[in-house]
Amino acid sequence: MAFPDLPSFIAALDAAGELVRITEPVRAKLEICEITDRVSKMPGGGKALLFEHPILDDGTRSAYPVAINLFGSTRRMSMALGVEDLDDIGRRITQLMDLKVPEGIMGKLSMLPRLLEVAKFPPRRKGGSPPCQEVVWTGSQIDLRKIPVLTCWPEDGGPFITLPMVISKDPKRGIRNVGMYRVQALGKDSVAMHWQRHKVGAAHWREMAERGEKMPVCIAIGADPASVYSASAPLPPNVDEFIFAGFLRKEPVALTKAITCDLDVPWDAEIVIEGEIDPAEALVVEGPFGDHTGFYSEADLYPRVHVKAVTMKSNPVYATTIVGRPPMEDFYLGGATERIFLPLLRLTTPEIVDYHMPAEGIFHNLVFVSIDKQYPGHAYKAMNALWGAGLMSLAKVIVVLDKEVNVRNPQEAWWVALNNIDPERDVRFTMGPVDVLDHGSRAFTYGSKMGIDATRKWPEEGFTRNWPKVIEMDDATKARVDAIWSRLGIPK
Ligand SMILES: Cc1cc2nc3c(=O)[nH]c(=O)nc-3n(C[C@H](O)[C@H](O)[C@H](O)COP(=O)(O)O)c2cc1C
Repeated sequence: MAFPDLPSFIAALDAAGELVRITEPVRAKLEICEITDRVSKMPGGGKALLFEHPILDDGTRSAYPVAINLFGSTRRMSMALGVEDLDDIGRRITQLMDLKVPEGIMGKLSMLPRLLEVAKFPPRRKGGSPPCQEVVWTGSQIDLRKIPVLTCWPEDGGPFITLPMVISKDPKRGIRNVGMYRVQALGKDSVAMHWQRHKVGAAHWREMAERGEKMPVCIAIGADPASVYSASAPLPPNVDEFIFAGFLRKEPVALTKAITCDLDVPWDAEIVIEGEIDPAEALVVEGPFGDHTGFYSEADLYPRVHVKAVTMKSNPVYATTIVGRPPMEDFYLGGATERIFLPLLRLTTPEIVDYHMPAEGIFHNLVFVSIDKQYPGHAYKAMNALWGAGLMSLAKVIVVLDKEVNVRNPQEAWWVALNNIDPERDVRFTMGPVDVLDHGSRAFTYGSKMGIDATRKWPEEGFTRNWPKVIEMDDATKARVDAIWSRLGIPK
């Protein structure tokens, strides 16, 4: 059964030895970040942490514990999504997309369970009293400073909510979006919404601003782990993240109506901040923020959300994360996306065998792709296809390799790529949109990209020299050495 909420996931992590409870009082300002950063840098991403006694900025103890690094290892990410191996989800998606109706009545009948599986994913609005609204703050009761929102790095512009599910609706088509966009707490009752210009929430806001209408927005913190993850997934704008979460958890997500607007929020959320943006109002300064690039992002202007209500469970856990020099928790969230989206990339670019975005490349800076090369220029076709696919369009450097190269191992990928290329022949530059966080580009969100064709070159591509073989020991010698290995006295 899927985790219904955050506490059940935390309990499972605890039972699996994946959680450390910290009873020592620790400040939400900088200290939790420093502890978590050290843990994130431990082999495999360290443990999840539950700070039971965070200290608020006014020096008092927070009534709510802080959970962090919950998704920060491959094992915990797999647990969050209820699988042994994150590639299992990709395989499930491949099966669903392969819905060619089979021959014969028995074949057709065997399709039914799979189709039903899709049909039962839509989220459902639940009646009764939702746990996420056990406590309600409105008017003068609203005080975000009572929530242990972390100030992460010394030069951050303030405290930031970093693991939210930001819920908005496309005003034209009514399709919901749930995006993970950090928000900066601005005092008691307003926040700055950092949805970057390429993201779906920002598109909804531009649409509302054009209409001159006030925009309701809900910021849910802590819910079932599949929903939290789905907010970070780069789904197309016409896919509701809660349907996707339902698919991942094989159970619909339960929702309830927010108390001040028409948006639905997770029934079991720990905390929900309900607010409104007035497009007529001036933008506010958001940032600076120690970002997942490992550098501070500059302050910039973003819309202010006026908080209309804060609702929560009677004993909520405040779920958060930190970003900074990689690897951090977001590497594992992004790693799940990498695995889950492989079959979707293959839909339009079937020659892709595998791909990987290593931690140092912070997702958009470096993508290794292996392809089943079938014709001259195939590597360029593949990189151009990727630059045309959703948020992959922001990729700064794409390195294309042949299918036998294990691109999930960056050392192997670089070793083969650097051997294979003639830089002047195999490197191409192009232009396009770049990530908001890219500080090296010539202009904000606009700059160049580099594609490296590191595949083996074919005669039709003008390569007439011999191509060398990779060195490998023969199997018989390996077997003989295996047999005597333990007698050689070589320590492990
Ligand atoms: C921990 C974390 C923090 C993030 N913060 C932001 C952010 O502040 N602004 C933003 O635009 N994207 C941020 N992202 C990336 C988006 O969540 C991601 O691009 C997602 O696909 C956006 O959803 P959308 O496609 O529905 O817009 C963050 C991702 C993670 C994992």
